[in-house]
Amino acid sequence: MEEHEKIRQGIRKIYRLFIGIFSLFAVLAIAIIYMLNNPDALSRKKNIPEAEYVAVPEEEDYDKIENGIHLRTGLLEAEGLTEVINNCTNCHSAKLVMQNRMNKERWIATIRWMQETQNLWDLGNNEEIIVNYLVTNYPSKKKGRREILTDIEWYALEQ
Ligand code: HEC
Repeated sequence: MEEHEKIRQGIRKIYRLFIGIFSLFAVLAIAIIYMLNNPDALSRKKNIPEAEYVAVPEEEDYDKIENGIHLRTGLLEAEGLTEVINNCTNCHSAKLVMQNRMNKERWIATIRWMQETQNLWDLGNNEEIIVNYLVTNYPSKKKGRREILTDIEWYALEQ
């Protein structure tokens, strides 16, 4: 009888062992499946909130003109504005264009210089439109020298 009891106990031990191993595998399998579905489960990084969206001006605001000024570039609204925006604000700000007041010849020379050294493209028919726009709206203010005096009352020196 004792032999019998011992064998029974042995079987029970083995049985428990199997149950234990099996449960371990089951838990492991569940954990692996969970990890595969949630790769970030163990990482300590907190969820970073989605970057707030920067308000992109709507299409109509993009080329909005207020009080005769094209808001995005600051250029004056006049004939040729579109050509200037399309050809002259790509590489540098429009401020560089506005602050340089030149006459027609010097504008053409500046354009040639940019074409030769700065990869400015051939402006084709737009060149005339652009130069006209610039000369008309941003005329050269500086006078090379003092203007000739008029209205002078000459008087004879007395000796
Ligand atoms: C392909 C690029 C490009 C385009 C397009 C372009 N420029 Fe320029 N421009 C330059 C570079 C580069 C400079 C030098 C900038 C600097 O010195 O910081 C420059 C300089 C200038 C200057 C200053 C010149 C000086 O003597 O200081 C003026 C004015 C100017 N550009 C006007 C224009 C106008 C008008 C147009 C449109 C017809 C135009 N740019 C288009 C590249 C360009």
